[in-house]
Amino acid sequence: MSGRAKVLLIGFSLLASVASAAPGFDYKDYDDELMRDLEKTIKYFEPDITAQNADAAREDAAVLADGFRYTEDYFNKKGGAQDAVEISRKGSKLISQINDYIGKSDFDQAAAAARDATAVCKSCHDIYKPRLAR
Ligand code: HEC
Repeated sequence: MSGRAKVLLIGFSLLASVASAAPGFDYKDYDDELMRDLEKTIKYFEPDITAQNADAAREDAAVLADGFRYTEDYFNKKGGAQDAVEISRKGSKLISQINDYIGKSDFDQAAAAARDATAVCKSCHDIYKPRLAR
């Protein structure tokens, strides 16, 4: 096989694995309520940090940490969704780093990490959230 054909093949199998990473899960048992809570919370998260409101920011962080723990657990049980499990762990790790920054009153670093947390939500939705749902 030529090098080019190999590259193409690898490309296709990557595409195929991404496509199959979004299996036709039905999310009947999924906690949409919690997701909406996360959505509300993450909107206040960075502003709370920037306002140096450590107590509020810690409360937000606790809600978000619960959320990432939930998604890790959910997709772990579901099986065949290792990306979602990894993404959730990344989110949890980020939240604990943010708590550390807040503890050190390093609100700049905390705010930057809070923006990354939003990207973590999105990275899971890009793969796992049904695009046309609702
Ligand atoms: C590991 C995967 C994953 C992570 C992480 C994740 N979500 Fe979701 N989220 C989903 C899936 C899957 C759905 C679709 C569930 C369904 O269709 O019932 C969803 C749905 C939602 C919805 C729509 C709920 C509704 O009313 O139907 C919102 C809002 C949302 N997520 C916000 C967030 C926010 C904010 C974060 C980050 C703090 C986040 N999500 C993190 C997987 C994830």
